[in-house]
Amino acid sequence: MFMNSRGDVLPPDKANDLSDLPPVELAAFHQIVEMIFHIRGVDLRQYRKKSLRRRISIRMHQHRIEQFRDYAQLLAKNPAECDALLDKITINVTEFFRNPETYAAVRAEILPRLLEEKLKAGTNVFRVWSAGCASGEEPYSIAIMLRELFVGKYAHFLPHIYASDIDDHALAEAKAGVYQERSLRELSLPQREKYFTRQDAGLYSVRNDFRTIIRFVHQNMISDPPFRNIDLIYCRNVIIYFTRELQRKLYENFHAALTAGGYLVAGKVEAVLGITDGLFERVNPAEKIFRKM
Ligand SMILES: C[S@@+](CC[C@H](N)C(=O)[O-])C[C@H]1O[C@@H](n2cnc3c(N)ncnc32)[C@H](O)[C@@H]1O
Repeated sequence: MFMNSRGDVLPPDKANDLSDLPPVELAAFHQIVEMIFHIRGVDLRQYRKKSLRRRISIRMHQHRIEQFRDYAQLLAKNPAECDALLDKITINVTEFFRNPETYAAVRAEILPRLLEEKLKAGTNVFRVWSAGCASGEEPYSIAIMLRELFVGKYAHFLPHIYASDIDDHALAEAKAGVYQERSLRELSLPQREKYFTRQDAGLYSVRNDFRTIIRFVHQNMISDPPFRNIDLIYCRNVIIYFTRELQRKLYENFHAALTAGGYLVAGKVEAVLGITDGLFERVNPAEKIFRKM
């Protein structure tokens, strides 16, 4: 049973229901999740079971395996399979300025308000956390947005961007900051020229002076301590994989991480009804932008 802060009981989480599996298969499914925890230290026990099942099944299909118990045996014999499975589970799909309308809303409605408050308070440090940053497109997009806004009376602002993920492969790509031309399609030509260096073979690498405003960190947002004194959190297209109980815990972590009146940008697909109650007020429901209460 899941309750929000007002004590309303929310309907059971269908995305967590595996009651159609026979007991032996259900046990094998849980065994797989435990093995991932022991082999790779990644705790998926509170991820939504149905999406985990779907993702594990994709990997099983690639091995032409139909039963969870056979796949559990494969994992036990071949721990390297864990990496391939985790790649499937964590899905690192992302892009520069993903949902550009969300960036536009943050830029027009949120940042001016936050910066004016900072001006009044006499501080010039602006901290952002991109939680679940995958291969880096999101934090680099935020960095571009801030660079373009930090001019005129905001020119003295210093952006600090923390970008975290549990996936070391994705983080290595993010740190390298080299992208295919097609992934820059949301960037204008002047933005490409200003923030990237064109390499051979249609690759673009993020300019060094620009890269240094972002600190890439391996962090499990569920079990590791959150950052502190953050003004703006982006956590998009990650929370959807977690159970409702875990989602609530995460929103509590984000609440603790934010400064008074700080903002959280969730993914457009995220279901937040009841889960953020007592923690955040909805300032832009369409773009899933929240303000810490
Ligand atoms: C679909 S990508 C989203 C990337 C970006 N936020 C966006 O919206 O474009 C989800 C990312 O969340 C990461 N992730 C999943 N569980 C996580 C956890 N517990 N802690 C940190 N990152 C996690 C995955 O490794 C993956 O890179």
